[in-house]
Amino acid sequence: MAIQSTEPTVERVRKHNQGHLLAFLDELNEAQRGNLLDQLDRLPWSSLPRWIEQHVKTDHSPQIPDRLNPAPSFPPVPRDGQMTKKYAEACSLGETLIAQGKVGAFVVAGGQGTRLGFGGPKGAYAISPIKEKSLFQIFAEQILATSKRYGAVCPWYIMTSPLNHAQTQAIFHKNDFYGLDPETVFMFQQGTLPNFSLEGKILLSAKDRVASSPDGHGGSLRALFESGATVDMSTRGLEYLSYWQVDNPLIKVFDPLFIGLHVLEGAEMSSKAIKKTGPMEKVGNFCQVDGKIRVIEYSDLPDPLARQTKDDGSLVFELGSIGIHMVNRTFVERLNVGEFSLPIHRAVKKIPYVDPSGERIDPQEPNGVKLETFVFDALPLASKSIVLQTVRAEEFGPVKNATGVDSAETSRQMQMDRAVVWLEAAGLSVPRQDQIVQCTVEIAPSFALSAEDVEARVDQVPPIKPGDRLYLA
Ligand code: UD1
Repeated sequence: MAIQSTEPTVERVRKHNQGHLLAFLDELNEAQRGNLLDQLDRLPWSSLPRWIEQHVKTDHSPQIPDRLNPAPSFPPVPRDGQMTKKYAEACSLGETLIAQGKVGAFVVAGGQGTRLGFGGPKGAYAISPIKEKSLFQIFAEQILATSKRYGAVCPWYIMTSPLNHAQTQAIFHKNDFYGLDPETVFMFQQGTLPNFSLEGKILLSAKDRVASSPDGHGGSLRALFESGATVDMSTRGLEYLSYWQVDNPLIKVFDPLFIGLHVLEGAEMSSKAIKKTGPMEKVGNFCQVDGKIRVIEYSDLPDPLARQTKDDGSLVFELGSIGIHMVNRTFVERLNVGEFSLPIHRAVKKIPYVDPSGERIDPQEPNGVKLETFVFDALPLASKSIVLQTVRAEEFGPVKNATGVDSAETSRQMQMDRAVVWLEAAGLSVPRQDQIVQCTVEIAPSFALSAEDVEARVDQVPPIKPGDRLYLA
């Protein structure tokens, strides 16, 4: 987001009515002063006046279009013979593309994870039911298993933010990259945006530091380009990225069906969706506007639309986003050729700041605005975009909150439930009493990446007794 200008920094800051940022300049030593001026220099000055007027002082949230229709989608299982043929073709194409090294993994892990109340990068959170593997380890093991299966290099791109980059790097080094070749792991940082007071003044978090926060996962589309990740992909002959969010241990990092359908349909950016549990579930809603797929965040979809039902009682807007996409490298490159910007979303938050007397204040009430962009706002910019429905129990068990819904507890339970479903689908007997499962199971990616894999290895599963803690690897 850096802009180039010869205009002296101090003059530019004053011209934009942000002179308070210079209030402590005289108190700073040379290094601190240089540091602050450098941060000020990098602020997106050309966009600031518009952002402050439209998104900070007032709330010009992105408009909800009038003609909002539910998005068309591919069902989780084919509906008829023709579709069965198409899905088989897609799976086979997806497998070929993985084997040819044309697909990379891409996780966005730059968020703050405040709701979970976990100190480190969220990817380090221990989440598997028996071995307590971290999210990063679960993903790495999937990537390793996929590479082995297809005899392919499956590079992993990881987006961090200035908040957790060094920590994330240290975690990977400490864990020997979880068995992956470090040459195939490309870690890069997303950009940041300044934080504002409700009156539109940029906040200082220290006398020599502009308060800022990650620019949202939408920032990934710029950061992939600016970090050199797209050049790395191009050098490797890699064309597609399988995108997911760090909070979801049930992700199928490389899904041949999704990859294949996306490519067969000639799409530039595609999404996976699930049926929502109810009208108000806190997931984005898949919609179609003027022929383009869009995701409208749960907080932005008007209640009457969210609650609207069809004749059979099901929701009109029934498809929720689970933050899983296919993104073409050439799409990212194309976006970055010109001036590309995604809509700005605002969030009113408690933001610690330095007051005019130089005192650091930790506000008890929301006092400022953070701005961010969302990756799904790029969907309408794609020449084509498809939505593939998937089954929640198979692919979406996020850990977002400390307790309750989408917590570590529910996520662990979903991992165990999926393992049991896979075992039972393979004809194995899992001890139950009054339907309740009487054992704990964890299936490592090295053992199975899907129910079909378990089926192929049933002879390697020992008999399961009540109270067993069964780890299959
Ligand atoms: C998100 C989606 C929601 C979707 C749900 C599914 C948004 C605004 N909403 O909600 O539509 O249904 O997930 O789980 O995203 N991240 C970064 N950098 C940032 C901000 C976030 O890398 O600057 C990453 C986080 O590390 C995380 C992911 O993006 O992996 C999601 O971010 P989060 O803010 O937790 O989104 P949710 O509110 O859970």
